Amino acid sequence: MIPVKSATEIATMRKACRIAATVLDRLCRCVAPGVNTYDLDQEGKRLLAECGGRSACYGYRAGAKVFPAYTCLSVNEEIVHGIGQLQRVLREGDIITVDVCVEVDGFIGDNARTVPVGAIPESTAKLLRATETALYAGIEQARSRHRVGFISHAVEQAVRPYGFGIIRDFVGHGVGRTMHEAPQIPNFGPRNRGDRLRPGMTLAIEPMISVGPPRVEMAEDGWTALTADRQPSAHFEHTVLVTDDEPEILTLAERAT
Ligand code: MF3
Ligand code: CO
Repeated sequence: MIPVKSATEIATMRKACRIAATVLDRLCRCVAPGVNTYDLDQEGKRLLAECGGRSACYGYRAGAKVFPAYTCLSVNEEIVHGIGQLQRVLREGDIITVDVCVEVDGFIGDNARTVPVGAIPESTAKLLRATETALYAGIEQARSRHRVGFISHAVEQAVRPYGFGIIRDFVGHGVGRTMHEAPQIPNFGPRNRGDRLRPGMTLAIEPMISVGPPRVEMAEDGWTALTADRQPSAHFEHTVLVTDDEPEILTLAERAT
């Protein structure tokens, strides 16, 4: 069953998502050559406090594992759930995925974006464009009466002309009282699959796209997923509200400062 949020729950979702987006925006502006990912995560912690949100990542449990950082910071070949480290110093030409997941008054907003560190190769810029384009193609399908598969299929079709890999080991998800609710939203597959969407559903749509084949390995830390061929991957994510009308992106920042 996919949870449908009430008007008051949606109001709280809006608040959590606006904070998540504002923190993401501000944190992405701190990305620069010479910055290490531990300091970036600490800045994320500070921004979360300043904006009135709590990290939904810090202390997140998966089995026996507990996530130790405030944001997920994934560099180059790292796909998702990277942990900030003092020794990981960003260099010109890198890309980094900044993933900010915020809890406010019992509801969660989730968003992510891959940004360049200084000037990047054209091939990598194309990866970022493809992934962002795929996200918006998916969002466009987050409409009442559509099936979850409409989103999956649209993402897959948007990536196809680029020839990049679609990561299958991680999927988008419903989001609300918990970070991962029903449904799972794969970034590939047929249109006629999955439950039908209804107004009041809130979905985190998040394509993860690789330059090479979508084979995934886990790092020693037990959290960081990376591409088996160590080529770059990108990840864009928004939390979206299904309405009677157009899909509404909830993770839009407070203002462009
Ligand atoms: N946006 C990420 C996700 O949906 C947030 C993960 S937090 C972590 O998986 F603690 F699991 F890393
Ligand atoms: Co997510």
